[in-house]
Amino acid sequence: MRGDGLKIEMEYAHIGGAGYDAAGDPFPPATEKLVLAADAALMGAVGGYQYDTLPRELRPERGLLRIRKALNAFANLRPATVYPELVNASTLKPELVSGLDIMILRELTGDIYFGQPRGIRTLDSGEREGFDTMRYTASEIRRVAHVGFRIAQKRNRKVCSVDKANVLDTSMFWREIVTEVGKEYPDVALSHMYVDNAAMQLVRAPKQFDVILTGNIFGDILSDEASMLTGSIGMLPSASLDANNKGLYEPCHGSAPDIAGKDIANPLATILSAAMMLRYTFAREDAAQRIENAVRKVLQQGLRTADIYEDGMKKVGCAAMGDAVVKAL
Ligand code: IPM
Ligand code: MG
Repeated sequence: MRGDGLKIEMEYAHIGGAGYDAAGDPFPPATEKLVLAADAALMGAVGGYQYDTLPRELRPERGLLRIRKALNAFANLRPATVYPELVNASTLKPELVSGLDIMILRELTGDIYFGQPRGIRTLDSGEREGFDTMRYTASEIRRVAHVGFRIAQKRNRKVCSVDKANVLDTSMFWREIVTEVGKEYPDVALSHMYVDNAAMQLVRAPKQFDVILTGNIFGDILSDEASMLTGSIGMLPSASLDANNKGLYEPCHGSAPDIAGKDIANPLATILSAAMMLRYTFAREDAAQRIENAVRKVLQQGLRTADIYEDGMKKVGCAAMGDAVVKAL
């Protein structure tokens, strides 16, 4: 692929259900080898009904967690931006969301997602229990906090760190370390919010936020909530970066197996993920903006996939939407 003076070599690899089908493994060794050698990985969504009954280690989601871990992609950027053209697509009142521009920074390789011990066991009493471990080391918190403050410096200089420090020790510790790191960024205003309140504030007055910095599980939940402010999760890209800006880029949405093969999915989140790839890994802001402008242009032309459709617009399928973006480019 060649464009804007940037030569990109592309290779393809299987992951998730495709990995299981091709190699019996949701993150096959061949895929791991390729992504470790690459500067960036652009990934589709994983998951499908036919894999739901497989043992957990073989399920598509496992492939996703493993590629994040393998790449050490600890800083997950999930922007929630409302395009003026889609302000009516949100279920919230237009005045609440118009002009919205939030960056959720979710820690992606720690927390209860990866904490040991975990499992399902039988207690001495004979009763069974399920358990997981929430944990964060100081260095895990510190490195993602630095990313958050640096991103805020390029935006509106506000970081809201979200935790549950009124109940969880992990969160108390999170807050302590984030506060410490914050002292190195006197130009950024740091605030803290409990996650339950943050969930409420996101739908009450979302524009109060600039950068939301949070752990893996809270970020998982809040980023889905924030996506709805923008009208459709089908619009939202994401970047997951390691310490050197090597990245994994994926749409925030899942694989939506219920609409698979019908040519009605929204391709814009994936296209916008490629724009993020140019911005963060290849440091080509100009090329990233060209893609984002092309997306804006097709929205201005009134083209809409089903998830963002409103009366008076032109409903198009996935392929036609993709073609229109290429044309606008
Ligand atoms: C996400 C998804 C994943 C997660 C699932 C599919 C494992 O919900 O990327 O937000 O929980 O991280
Ligand atoms: Mg999620």
